[in-house]
Amino acid sequence: MDLFEYQARDVFEKHGVPVLAGAVATTAEEARAAAERVGATSGGVTVVKAQVKTGGRGKAGGVKVAKSPEEAEQHARAILGMDIKGHTVHRVMIAQGAQIDEEYYFSILLDRANRAYLAMCSKEGGMDIEQLAVERPEALARVPVDPNVGIDDAKAKEIVERAGFDGETARRIEPVLRTLWGVYRDEDATLVEVNPLVKTADGDIVALDGKVSLDANAYFRHPEHESLEDTTETDPLEMAAKEKDLNYVKLDGSVGIIGNGAGLVMSTLDVVAYAGEEFGGQKPANFLDIGGGASAEVMADGLHIILSDRQVKSVFVNVFGGITACDAVANGIVGALDALGDEEDRPLVVRLDGNNVEEGRRILAERNHPRVTIEETMDGAARRAAELASTN
Ligand SMILES: Nc1ncnc2c1ncn2[C@@H]1O[C@H](COP(=O)(O)OP(=O)(O)OP(=O)(O)O)[C@@H](O)[C@H]1O
Ligand SMILES: [Mg+2]
Repeated sequence: MDLFEYQARDVFEKHGVPVLAGAVATTAEEARAAAERVGATSGGVTVVKAQVKTGGRGKAGGVKVAKSPEEAEQHARAILGMDIKGHTVHRVMIAQGAQIDEEYYFSILLDRANRAYLAMCSKEGGMDIEQLAVERPEALARVPVDPNVGIDDAKAKEIVERAGFDGETARRIEPVLRTLWGVYRDEDATLVEVNPLVKTADGDIVALDGKVSLDANAYFRHPEHESLEDTTETDPLEMAAKEKDLNYVKLDGSVGIIGNGAGLVMSTLDVVAYAGEEFGGQKPANFLDIGGGASAEVMADGLHIILSDRQVKSVFVNVFGGITACDAVANGIVGALDALGDEEDRPLVVRLDGNNVEEGRRILAERNHPRVTIEETMDGAARRAAELASTN
């Protein structure tokens, strides 16, 4: 999960990273009130910043300096609702205005290829860092970080030296890098990036912008991260699925898909999209992986979510019996259909294979449900499901 800048700011503050005062606002009036508070200690000067989970906000006109609360209100009015690289701006952050002397760059990220972390640092931070990395890569120090050691005193010194800092500035930056490492480790992040990390006119080092990505695999260690999730743009069906612990992603097509195992479901999407071309461009309506234990309850929950999508015209259940054998899955499907009752009239195409397939097919054949078609192959089932979607 990527955090908004204002959330990253809060996380930084919690860990003792030097940041400026900031407040989030969703309307121009709120922005004005926030600017009155936030700007009180910076001569009324604030910076109005679009909160979107993409880079290049400044260049897109989403970062504007305001000399008064009135001006902050005007900027907020212009920035709210703006589109930045396909992201609509729903909130702005009102940040205290800083007197910037120099802008630096610092990040820590997960370097999967080398099974380590990588710290990057440059004396020339700011909005052109991407260009710098391409045109003068030597100006961006890249220092591997051993995950077992992290950024200790020696590593911080090494990073700062490699980036070309010296003297007083180097001494002031080092503790900030160690604190940012603390954020990375303790929050189970996969990215912590500060651009710009600035030196103010007073010589203080401050993180003026923050990008933080949290590792979803570590959520069980961080119940507090749940509140950071942005649900304003989450699809309602996806939210309902999440409550049932189902791995569901809404797509645009007409063929509902249920499968067990992410790989199988992904290839099912491909096969359905391919088969659908023959039937007026029918496409998958969703991704849904019900995982290994395809019990009747999970199957019923899954079917229920998929059929709540009125765009769905047919459903393709594609299960490869493994630990949960096909007979259990077949019982699950029958149970789910019974639970859904007669009101539901959209057709279901089932393809079962793998462990105990004969028994599974026998159970479905015996139930002989009027809306269920059994197909032997994945291609055949995809074709049938697409065909039914086109005529339904
Ligand atoms: N609080 C602030 N006070 C003064 N100047 C600021 C402040 N925040 C940002 N700036 C200036 O605006 C520039 C752009 O801000 P920021 O880094 O937050 O956005 P960005 O880099 O364009 O966005 P992104 O990081 O999403 O690409 C900074 O490099 C800095 O010069
Ligand atoms: Mg930036």
